[in-house]
Amino acid sequence: MAARRPLIAGNWKMFGRRASLGELSQLWAAVADAAAGIDVLICPPAPYIQNAAWAARETGLLIGAQDCSPAADDAARTGEVSAAMLKDAGARYVIVGHSERRALHGEGNALVRQKADAALAAGLTPIICVGETQAERAAGRVAEIVGVQVRESAPADPRIVIAYEPVWAIGGTATPTIPEIAEVHALIRENLRASLSGEANGVRILYGGSVGPKNAAEVFSAEGVDGALVGRASLKAADFSAIILGHPAART
Ligand code: PGA
Repeated sequence: MAARRPLIAGNWKMFGRRASLGELSQLWAAVADAAAGIDVLICPPAPYIQNAAWAARETGLLIGAQDCSPAADDAARTGEVSAAMLKDAGARYVIVGHSERRALHGEGNALVRQKADAALAAGLTPIICVGETQAERAAGRVAEIVGVQVRESAPADPRIVIAYEPVWAIGGTATPTIPEIAEVHALIRENLRASLSGEANGVRILYGGSVGPKNAAEVFSAEGVDGALVGRASLKAADFSAIILGHPAART
């Protein structure tokens, strides 16, 4: 089977302004030579997707969104943005089920699944986020929680991407150990096998949660880690490029 192509994704969350798009050309200047074998993705806030896609048009950078409507067709849904609109604006990927949306907006697995289905229907690649809380880890429930999230949120489609993001590791400094990351990535793939059988081997599984220039190379060394979903450290080209250059597939 062909090796999975690494994906390193930046999630800008609700940060930045139009002027922040200047980071894209700086980022590309820093990684263009090294990143030929890596998919590099930036997910800016929705109003900037079209400008970001324009700014990235002569680079190899990919642009994505941070969320989409579960409704596949145009509909009377005030305030929502469909996957088809995001695709039309220049997005190629969309993050769904990020823990901030699960926690702050009450999004459950069924809704996340609908969003992932809508993304696929529109021709976008969904990055489906899963991960346990600190209390769930302390109670020894990681396999159960993450297993249910994967089985209930992920469509049976080999084009999907999964991001393992322990809730307690996001936005802080703590991360799981490398063996702990490898263990959860293996159990995610095992759960994907239930619906995808052999095709589960082609699904990319990213790690996310406090990835930065200092620990990226170590995270990438973990068995079964196909890349990263990066929050804070994706906002500045200097940090994000250092992360990308820390991947073993980056030619130096
Ligand atoms: P962080 O965020 O890298 O700032 O911890 C990761 C994420 O929420 O995707």
